[in-house]
Amino acid sequence: MKAAWILGAGLVLMTVGTLAGCRGRQSSLTSSMVSDGSPQHGRELIGQYGCGACHVIPGVHAARGLVGPPLFFWSRRTMIAGELSNTPNNLERWIENPPAIEPGTAMPNLGVTPAQARDMAAYLYTLQ
Ligand code: HEC
Repeated sequence: MKAAWILGAGLVLMTVGTLAGCRGRQSSLTSSMVSDGSPQHGRELIGQYGCGACHVIPGVHAARGLVGPPLFFWSRRTMIAGELSNTPNNLERWIENPPAIEPGTAMPNLGVTPAQARDMAAYLYTLQ
């Protein structure tokens, strides 16, 4: 009985340790994915461009669209549209012109400029 308790406690500690390890790795991944744009301005632009018509985006008013995938936890995602690895540079390219990366995608080219895409990316990387 006592042995079972010790085994159980050990398993719990191991699980906690593993989870803590994952968190540690994720936060280091997160800190490497920081765009040098302005998150505050990016959030406003995301609202103005109507990204929320197609995406659920935390912190953006009325962004509840379900055409595209929800963008919560963006800083922890590894891929963009299943096509590119999630880096600031790639995200900016995607936002500027999605069909150039994935012909036939349902996300249109909205005419976002490179500077605007940088700010939008900066906001998305604040989503943990
Ligand atoms: C007309 C609908 C529509 C609009 C408007 C739209 N998107 Fe998308 N978006 C999509 C769809 C659909 C996908 C999935 C693309 C794919 O996987 O081919 C997508 C994918 C994405 C992804 C990658 C998501 C993932 O899980 O990999 C990001 C990031 C993104 N959009 C950001 C934006 C931003 C920022 C805006 C505004 C400038 C925007 N989208 C506007 C439909 C839209």
